[in-house]
Amino acid sequence: MTKTTLPRHVAVIMDGNGRWAKQHKLQIALGHRQGVEALRAIIRESSDLGIEALSLYAFSTENWRRSPQEVEALMGLLLEYFTSEIDELDENNVRIRILGDKDGMPPKQRAALVSAEERTKGNTGLNLNIAINYGGRAELARAARALAEKAVKGEIRPEDITEDALSRELYTAGQPDVDLLIRTSGEMRLSNFLLFQCAYAEFMFPSVLWPDFDLNEYHKALEAFGSRDRRFGGRKA
Ligand code: IPE
Ligand code: IPE
Ligand code: MG
Repeated sequence: MTKTTLPRHVAVIMDGNGRWAKQHKLQIALGHRQGVEALRAIIRESSDLGIEALSLYAFSTENWRRSPQEVEALMGLLLEYFTSEIDELDENNVRIRILGDKDGMPPKQRAALVSAEERTKGNTGLNLNIAINYGGRAELARAARALAEKAVKGEIRPEDITEDALSRELYTAGQPDVDLLIRTSGEMRLSNFLLFQCAYAEFMFPSVLWPDFDLNEYHKALEAFGSRDRRFGGRKA
C-alpha cells in the first residue's frame, strides 16, 4: 500500500455485533465483546499506517432505545475498554477525543471518557475519535447554538458564520473531513453519523459483520479507496 493514496480520515460504523452473536448462538453482549476485539487491531493498524484520524461509531443517541440489558452491557463494556486500553493507547501516542454528549452518560462512564481525553491530550499520533452518545444532527444543532451565543454577545457577525466557522464548532474541530467511511454488515446508511464531515467521503459497505472485520478486510477497503476517482465536483482533464 502506498502512503500517497491513504485516506487522512477514516470513519467506521461498526455494525453487525448483534447478528454475529445470533449466528454463533451467543448472547448479544458477547457479540459486542467480540466487536471490541476487532477494534483493537484496526486502531493499531491505523496508527502504524500513519492515518491522521480514525472515527469510530460506538454508541448513537438512538441506541438508548435498546433493551435496558443491552444498554447496560454496552456501558459495562465501555468502562472496561477505557480502563484496560488507556495505557497502551497513551504509550502509542494516540490522542483520544470523544464525539458526543458526555454529560448524558452515566457518571462512571463519563469520568472515564473525560479522563481518557485529558490524559492523551498532549499526544501527537493517531487522532482516535470515539463517538459515544453521538448524533450528527445533535452535533450540528450544538454548533449552531455555539455560534448564535457568540453572535448574541457581539463576538461575531452573521456573515462570519461560514462553513469553516461551523466546522470549528464540531466535535472534530481542526481535523480533516472524512475521506473514507466504512460500514460493516451490509447496511447502507449513515444512521446519523458525521453528517457534515462526510460531505465528500467515499463510502464502502463490506458485508462482513463487525466482529469479523479483520486486517485483511481493512486493507481491502484501503486499497479500494486508493482506486476511487475523487472529483469533488470538478472534472479531470
Ligand atoms: C453495532 O452492532 C454496535 C452498536 C450499535 C453498539 P449492532 O448491535 O447494531 O448489530 P446488529 O445490527 O444488531 O447486527
Ligand atoms: C449505528 O448502528 C450505530 C453504531 C454502530 C454505534 P445501528 O445498528 O444502531 O443503526 P441502525 O439502527 O441499523 O440504523
Ligand atoms: Mg446494527
